[in-house]
Amino acid sequence: MDRIVEIEKISFEKEYEVSLRPINFNDYIGQEKTKENLKIFIEAAKKRAETLDHVLFYGPPGLGKTTLAHIISNEMSANIKMTAAPMIEKSGDLAAILTNLEEGDILFIDEIHRLSSSIEEILYPAMEDFRLDIIIGSGPAAQTIKIDVPKFTLIGATTRAGMISAPLRDRFGISFRLQFYSPDELAKIVQIASKKLNKPAKDDACLEIAKRSRGTPRIALRLLKRIRDFADVNSEDNITKQRAKNSLDSLGVNELGFDEMDLKYLEILFDAKKRPMGLSTIAAALSEDEGTIEDVIEPYLLANGYIQRTAKGRIVSQKSYKTLNIPNDYNEGLFSEN
Ligand SMILES: Nc1ncnc2c1ncn2[C@@H]1O[C@H](COP(=O)(O)OP(=O)(O)O)[C@@H](O)[C@H]1O
Ligand SMILES: [Mg+2]
Repeated sequence: MDRIVEIEKISFEKEYEVSLRPINFNDYIGQEKTKENLKIFIEAAKKRAETLDHVLFYGPPGLGKTTLAHIISNEMSANIKMTAAPMIEKSGDLAAILTNLEEGDILFIDEIHRLSSSIEEILYPAMEDFRLDIIIGSGPAAQTIKIDVPKFTLIGATTRAGMISAPLRDRFGISFRLQFYSPDELAKIVQIASKKLNKPAKDDACLEIAKRSRGTPRIALRLLKRIRDFADVNSEDNITKQRAKNSLDSLGVNELGFDEMDLKYLEILFDAKKRPMGLSTIAAALSEDEGTIEDVIEPYLLANGYIQRTAKGRIVSQKSYKTLNIPNDYNEGLFSEN
């Protein structure tokens, strides 16, 4: 009996996940420029009865790259096949994916910067001429045979545009960098989601959650779900600002939207006493890998001017001292317990 309940709960959660994801441009809040342009490119492709040119989305995690890929497939009335670069290990893996596509399909490759160079080589003619060049045999007897693949649209997503090789990047006819969301945009996302979750949040509660979400819809929605737990346990039908505040405090989410990692990161830079600090030193001090720091922690701090990146390394900006109320002659250990 218990097991069945468990399984039902899991699929219930999953349904929530799906229903919170916008399925058309109207429900997709913010990223106005990207939306505006995409709508035009989609309409033009449809008018000419062609496939949409290949699209690249880049930007920090949780800003809506995967969601946009789904929206495009919806608007183009095209099937979408989802995969991620680490799952494409051998050239045969990619050849199988491509030959199994149908005309007009969308192929979504997440983390596309992680494709190996030999796999990329196969992708080039497929993207450009919808053709696979397959080499059979080796040495002087080696032969290349060309196989046609159906016309498709590749949508690539990555958190690290800088790590995509130039030849691959050049083959995307359309490319967008997603931006962090404003508190107002996030508040709207929270409001819509809270209604879908049957626990409407008051306007000021939405804004409170929005302000503490690092400009990121995924974080806002995650916080909303946890606040809903607090409201449920307290038998409340909606989410008030007070409930949001209390819950966020219990969850350890700072009023400025910094999470624990942000604070640790900043503390390390404060401790460096205005000397620039290299990425590898920061990574060692945080016990995090450099990629995570560059992709997840730094973009928000950089975008909001809390840190600066110089040739010699990272430094905290005056804004951080002010915002966090740190004296300019600060000496170590402000955030630590002891
Ligand atoms: N512009 C938006 N409007 C509403 N919800 C959004 C928006 N962007 C993202 N989301 C929601 O945020 C979550 C994370 O989005 P996702 O597309 O998975 O991000 P990414 O692929 O960039 O990591 C999803 O639940 C999605 O529904
Ligand atoms: Mg994604």
